[in-house]
Amino acid sequence: MTVKKSKIVLFGDPVLRKVAKPITVFHKKLHGLIDSIAETLYNHDDGAALAANQIGILKSVTVIDYMEEYFEMINPEIIDSRGEQTEYEGCLSLPGYYGLVSRYEYVKVKYLDRNGNENIIERNGKLARCFQHEIDHLNGILFIDKVSESFLISNNNDSKISLESVIDLANGKINK
Ligand code: NI
Repeated sequence: MTVKKSKIVLFGDPVLRKVAKPITVFHKKLHGLIDSIAETLYNHDDGAALAANQIGILKSVTVIDYMEEYFEMINPEIIDSRGEQTEYEGCLSLPGYYGLVSRYEYVKVKYLDRNGNENIIERNGKLARCFQHEIDHLNGILFIDKVSESFLISNNNDSKISLESVIDLANGKINK
């Protein structure tokens, strides 16, 4: 089977604001979806993770390849958390811009693998941050909803753009 590589959906597409549906069937179709998320992620050098709605599919699936760990998470949910970390983060659906976001320092996540088996894992720091970002995606939440400054920073030239304008873009209020 050839794996379909998809285009990443950008801020402004309403699919990014919708809640993904839980997976109930763990067969070929799901495996094809997971593989095309992974393939799309690997097409982007700076990508750490990608949620299914970022390729336009409203299913609760995310693929993470970050800090030398790989996860395929189906129906993930945070079941415990503590502490706080504040760092700049970005998103493949808003290329080139970063914003300061506070998140839990530690999370415990429950998820199913591609065969429907339950896993529970705990991580701190960057991976904990990544899990929270991805689970937010599956709930229609974007990192810009949690940025604590009034602007985002471009990674090209350190120029700033107003957070408000990006939120308007993400909510479909202005055209690109
Ligand atoms: Ni993202």
